[in-house]
Amino acid sequence: MSKHLIDQAMQLLRANDRGTYTVPTYGLYPFQWNWDSVLSALGFLHFDEDRAWTEIETLFDNQWEDGMVPHIIFHEHDEGYFPGPDVWRTGRKVPTSGITQPPVAGFAVRRMLERAEQREDATRRARALLPKIHAWHEWFFRCRDPQGTGLVAIIHPWESGRDNSVDWDAAFGRVPTDGVEAFTRRDTSHANPDHRPTDEQYKRYIWLVQKFRSLGWDNSKLHDASPFQLVDPGFNAILTRSCSDLAELADALGEPEIAAQSRNFAEKSLAAMDTLWSEKWGQYLCRDRAIDELVDSPSIGGLLAVFAEIPAARAKVVAKRIAKLGELANFLVPSHDPSVPEYDGMRYWRGPAWLIVNYMIADGLARAGETAIVNRIKADSVKLIEESGFAEYYDPITAEPCGGGQFSWTAAMVIEFLDERVTA
Ligand code: GLC
Repeated sequence: MSKHLIDQAMQLLRANDRGTYTVPTYGLYPFQWNWDSVLSALGFLHFDEDRAWTEIETLFDNQWEDGMVPHIIFHEHDEGYFPGPDVWRTGRKVPTSGITQPPVAGFAVRRMLERAEQREDATRRARALLPKIHAWHEWFFRCRDPQGTGLVAIIHPWESGRDNSVDWDAAFGRVPTDGVEAFTRRDTSHANPDHRPTDEQYKRYIWLVQKFRSLGWDNSKLHDASPFQLVDPGFNAILTRSCSDLAELADALGEPEIAAQSRNFAEKSLAAMDTLWSEKWGQYLCRDRAIDELVDSPSIGGLLAVFAEIPAARAKVVAKRIAKLGELANFLVPSHDPSVPEYDGMRYWRGPAWLIVNYMIADGLARAGETAIVNRIKADSVKLIEESGFAEYYDPITAEPCGGGQFSWTAAMVIEFLDERVTA
């Protein structure tokens, strides 16, 4: 069975492969997405190392001069997506969006180099990526943490990768909708509208894009100018983890300066992470930087924090919390707590389970020695695939597949989860 699923996942990645980049899925997402690409590369590495490296290289070929790596690269013209390059207007030769996404590259590239069989080629390619990834991390701390708190803010919900999370609701309510140019959504013609963000949310997404565009996408201005500044524990955990993995990578490649700077970033950020801890929920929470308050919203962002090297005692409490969620949901890990009224089991990031987040949470908890819950998360992930195919996300109670189908990063995570069993 495992072998069969791995074969299917490989075929899916091949089908979504556009030569030098992979689309998340045909139709709904016809370009290259930042963290989709990086996580998909982990899947490619199992059967085509060269192609895995190319995926990440293509992404970094489109890095901005200031260090930012955009969340979408519009390699080809496609009318089927909104908002396209004509809305972003970032003025790039290969058009890109103007915001970023969770920086998983430091983590992934270290893992890829450790596993690669073509050692010489892998070392050469990791060495070339190292300063670029580091420049992206520097950009984060410079442009998204201007006060030097150790934690970075996202300035658009799309940056989090958890587009319509309940975490953003209150802050997003302060984003105006006046002056938003008329638009036609395309996502709802590819996927069930009940599984997608609402029209009201879309207006606010676009208001922010127009605001940043009016400032010429100048990242020295955007953070302070944005009415939406959210410090997400999951996002920061990914950044912290990538910094410490980049430090290891830099040491291995003989780049002590990058190693030292990356270690500093990681240490400062880890220490600051504790300011997001909630005793009430037994997990981390977001901070709304604009009003300097924690957001009382028990989402998966605060569980994903275990991806960073948080203190063992904290990881234990998060593991317990996930086990509790496992009594409410049949399939871990729901993206929002099923016991609160905002939970919506089929709407994107307001309840459904996502395999990529499961993967990162399982990785963090494995390091913390929480084997029982790791095994449950992995088993649930595989069951979701067996029952419902390679969907974008799943209802965590019924396993119903939601959003788009034939999803690249879901396939990559399946290979990651199953390969160890097959080869064990
Ligand atoms: C949605 C998801 C985001 C992902 C993108 C492409 O916007 O919320 O995390 O990167 O789709 O799959």
